[in-house]
Amino acid sequence: MSAKPEYLEFPRGFLWGTATASHQVEGSNANNNWAVWEQEPGRILSGHKAGLACDWWGGRWREDFDRAAATGQNAHRLSIEWSRVQPAPDRWDADALDHYRQMILGLIERGLTPMVTLHHFTDPIWLSELGGWENDRTPDYFQIYVRKVAGALGDLVNLWCTVNEPNVYAVYGYLEGLFPPGVKSLRRTLGVMAGLVRGHAAAYHAIHDLQPAARVGMANHYHDVQAANPNSPLDRWTARLISSLFNDFCPRAAQDGVLRFPWGRVRLPLAQNTQDFLGLNYYTREYCAFEPLRPGSLFHRRFFRADASISPTGFCANEPEGFYAALTWARSFGLPIIITENGAEDAADQFRPHYLAQHIAQAGRAIEAGYPIEGYFHWSLLDNFEWERGWTQRFGLWELDIETQERCKRSSADLYERICRSHQVPRRWLDGGDFSPFEYATDRQV
Ligand code: NOJ
Repeated sequence: MSAKPEYLEFPRGFLWGTATASHQVEGSNANNNWAVWEQEPGRILSGHKAGLACDWWGGRWREDFDRAAATGQNAHRLSIEWSRVQPAPDRWDADALDHYRQMILGLIERGLTPMVTLHHFTDPIWLSELGGWENDRTPDYFQIYVRKVAGALGDLVNLWCTVNEPNVYAVYGYLEGLFPPGVKSLRRTLGVMAGLVRGHAAAYHAIHDLQPAARVGMANHYHDVQAANPNSPLDRWTARLISSLFNDFCPRAAQDGVLRFPWGRVRLPLAQNTQDFLGLNYYTREYCAFEPLRPGSLFHRRFFRADASISPTGFCANEPEGFYAALTWARSFGLPIIITENGAEDAADQFRPHYLAQHIAQAGRAIEAGYPIEGYFHWSLLDNFEWERGWTQRFGLWELDIETQERCKRSSADLYERICRSHQVPRRWLDGGDFSPFEYATDRQV
């Protein structure tokens, strides 16, 4: 038998990028539900606010896109802020749309393929006042906004993400109370997930009406959940329950047009076959144990593997095998796969290089096995406002000083550059942590 090649290869034309989201980077967003939430004491860690964020609305996107292009990236995923484009139900802001047009042109001029997300966690205040995604009419409102955006930008954008992580939006906002509106109800959580699927489906059709050749999907967050004790039927049962409600509910509905509530199924034919690609956001794997006394949390407790390497502020464990499991799950939809997010918070950049290298190696392994993966977007290009965790978690390839707006390149940016430019990674990265990604980033020019 011949030895396997030393490198895992990525196809030419593979999208290598980073991902960002409007509220997290733009700054001065005053008209959405997060701007209101940030004013309430105790909602955001350390009382942080998005504030000026990375000042993209002030024009600093230019220098950051320069950074992305200069370090070998060829794509970028950003999001449009609904509350800017439609500040009131009967008002459209042509300047805001033009601002986005300039940004997208800025990407294209620098050789970065744009992928545009239409809803990334934030809602206009007027929409929240109407009940947000619990209002049956919201999918229609969303569709009207999406038509407006696709009509204005469709000549420049071919890759669209309708909704980012509908499961996270719903669970954090309506089950765990961490995102606005701070509700804790399983029934309402699933109602919101269903509303977002309806919105996604309406947006999918609206974009295809205007732009038949567009490629439209969602960014699906897959949280790999394993039974803590694989020999325990109850652990296996909870792991399956959590995984099917959290991971499967939205993308399956967007595949076969069926909403699977624990209390019964609802058909939604409009949602059937409404993904042209499977967008995958993956961060970590957790283990799940049955807990009879915790009905409120669906009879389970979750934790990281005891010997896993954990990111500096505990956001994720470095579980590259979980990423392979996520890609295998993604492949089961029979669609091209785009990795719409993957990354870790690490201000000191000691954990990230291994995480990045080992995860990209798993993507290479999957490609070698024939998985139809078309792109990888690292979260994120630079440090940005991390929702309820404020500025305490730093996900950027570039560090941001929020006082001075100064950017400082982390070593992981060099590592990622080498990967993007060479379209390959050493196979030995599949074997674990015994390598030096820093040396790899600098030991030879590609
Ligand atoms: C997923 C979300 O889409 C993004 O907004 C967030 O910053 C990252 N995960 C990290 O938590």
